[in-house]
Amino acid sequence: MIKKTITYSLICLFSICLLACSNADSSSSEAEAADLVVDINNPIHEIQPTMYGIFFEDINFAADGGLYAELVKNRSFEFDAPWMGWKHLPEAETRFNTVNELTIVRDANNPQNPRFVRVDKGDETPEFGLENEGFDGMGIKNGEKYDFSFVARQNKGNVTVKATLVDTTGNIIGSANTAVNGNDWKAYEVVITATATFGAAKLQVNFEGIGQIDIDQISLFPQDTWKGRKKGLRKDMVQLLAELNPGFIRFPGGCIVEGRTLDQRYQWKKTVGPVDERETLINRWNTEFAHRPAPDYFQSFGLGFFEYFQLSEDLGAEPLPILSCGLACQFNTSETVPMDQLDPYIDDALDLIEFANGSVNTKWGKIRASMGHPEPFNLKYIGVGNEQWGQEYFERYEAFAKAIYAKYPDMNIVSGTGPFSDGEMFEKAIKELERIKPELVDEHYYRTPDWFRENATRYDNYDRERFKIFAGEYAAQSVQTASPENRNTLECAISEAAFMTGLERNADVVYMTSYAPLFAHVNRWQWTPDLIWFDNLTAYGTANYYVQKMYGTNPGTHTLSIKREGENVTGRDGLYATAAIDKNSNELIIKVVNTLGSKREISLSLNGLSKAVEGTMTSLHGDDAGVFNTIEEPAKITPSESNVMAENGKLNLQMPANSFKVVRLKL
Ligand code: AHR
Repeated sequence: MIKKTITYSLICLFSICLLACSNADSSSSEAEAADLVVDINNPIHEIQPTMYGIFFEDINFAADGGLYAELVKNRSFEFDAPWMGWKHLPEAETRFNTVNELTIVRDANNPQNPRFVRVDKGDETPEFGLENEGFDGMGIKNGEKYDFSFVARQNKGNVTVKATLVDTTGNIIGSANTAVNGNDWKAYEVVITATATFGAAKLQVNFEGIGQIDIDQISLFPQDTWKGRKKGLRKDMVQLLAELNPGFIRFPGGCIVEGRTLDQRYQWKKTVGPVDERETLINRWNTEFAHRPAPDYFQSFGLGFFEYFQLSEDLGAEPLPILSCGLACQFNTSETVPMDQLDPYIDDALDLIEFANGSVNTKWGKIRASMGHPEPFNLKYIGVGNEQWGQEYFERYEAFAKAIYAKYPDMNIVSGTGPFSDGEMFEKAIKELERIKPELVDEHYYRTPDWFRENATRYDNYDRERFKIFAGEYAAQSVQTASPENRNTLECAISEAAFMTGLERNADVVYMTSYAPLFAHVNRWQWTPDLIWFDNLTAYGTANYYVQKMYGTNPGTHTLSIKREGENVTGRDGLYATAAIDKNSNELIIKVVNTLGSKREISLSLNGLSKAVEGTMTSLHGDDAGVFNTIEEPAKITPSESNVMAENGKLNLQMPANSFKVVRLKL
């Protein structure tokens, strides 16, 4: 994670300079026409099915408050401040009421989830309880059903729990009641049917009657989740992921893997098994950026490693977990585990492979089976460390790799070059990696749009004997890395499309690529730009999302040569191209990018094709390179589809200003 170190005024200065220096020319004049020649009959490199994937990290409320469909924040009162997210009803002073009381009890016998609420109800006051604010409210949809649930025990008397959904003016938009009975902890669940749509609803939980109950795990989920799974994932958000046709899913990050301290690292073992036994942990993005504080950002791990493997399976994507290598984030504390105490960390990696792939007779395979998946998840990739650097990293990586290969010789292990895509730290990493010879190496590029346009040749002269590349995190930054002023502009998206022609052309070296970060809540983000933005009711794709989708849904199986005057098409007057064949469907796929702010004509010669063939063309473009989609106008930039026909081995393309086109022809 690149720390924001510049002041607001510097950011402004930087943006003005960028505007002045930008390549984007908004004139509508025509650029030079170009003839491109595609050689259909000589496939060059195989394109890996993992080529275009997804990077997932719980940043910007991507998991809790996002993909994980739980609507209640701090459902088990385990945030550092146990009442965070909750308000006492009818008013704050309820706390000082000695007739009706709400008390946080801390039970040392339940270390993963020690706190619960004791409700003492001394009189019949009906309006006494708690209100949960959700994540910037709760997204409730008219006519949909919601599962309201909790665990409770009755210590004395008779107390009924009444759940009510309210809008901001207090109108009731759904409610349900359930009595608590029996003095053992039990799970309760009732269904609330919503009577209105509201994006910022709140859940009121009132306690009626007289007596004492203990209550915990107060939860509200829509029934309409992805695949209808109970307490599952937000359907609209997974749908957007499915439409990317991802080859893999990287998880859980990102810096969240490492933690600000070792104690705050991501520990997968604490994210599997019964949800109420998963220990809440502060999210590292809670305090990371002073300009985007998120004091209520914690991880419930309701979306944990089982759900991740299941999601990968649902989407037909290879899982690629990234694990802590015993080094906390080096931008933060750099806390380091001594080499002679590294074994528990290495065991975590070995046990994760067993959790994913082991038979149901193994310790961790049995836990997977108990969660409903006796079949293995068929894990093939594992990453060691996120953005680490220095000797500390490489010696730890080597210890991990030795132990993993000893037990799982077929595993593909991913190493990394650190946070930067060039410079001294990067060069030092490359030297070490050339010695270690890992299979796949993770590179990150959070750079300006012009860097992306200028680096489409990055791998053209890459040493073919070296390790393969996992472009594991990248995104064009419209202002400056991690600046809060960054936007998902069309210029950024088109620049990424241009850069990606180079990734695809070098598919013999580049095996995996993923844009980062993936998700951001429109009101609760820490980092921008992001691929998909959402609020409590809807989610939308950015222009960058559509670029990823156009690549991900049109990968091809083998690259083909596409040349302009005998040269690769790598940016000469703003033109970029790549070509592939899909041997399974016998289709030709051509991707062309025009980064200029003026239109141009392209004539394609399809060598080896003489008959007339039909096909489709997907086109993403806009006259204004600075435009971006928003939650209010989510479809300002979206691709359009049309039919095309190539005749006598020729196809002409009109490339508008700032455009990316994918042509697919049935051979
Ligand atoms: O994508 C956001 C952050 O950027 C990731 O957590 C980190 O790996 C990178 O610096």
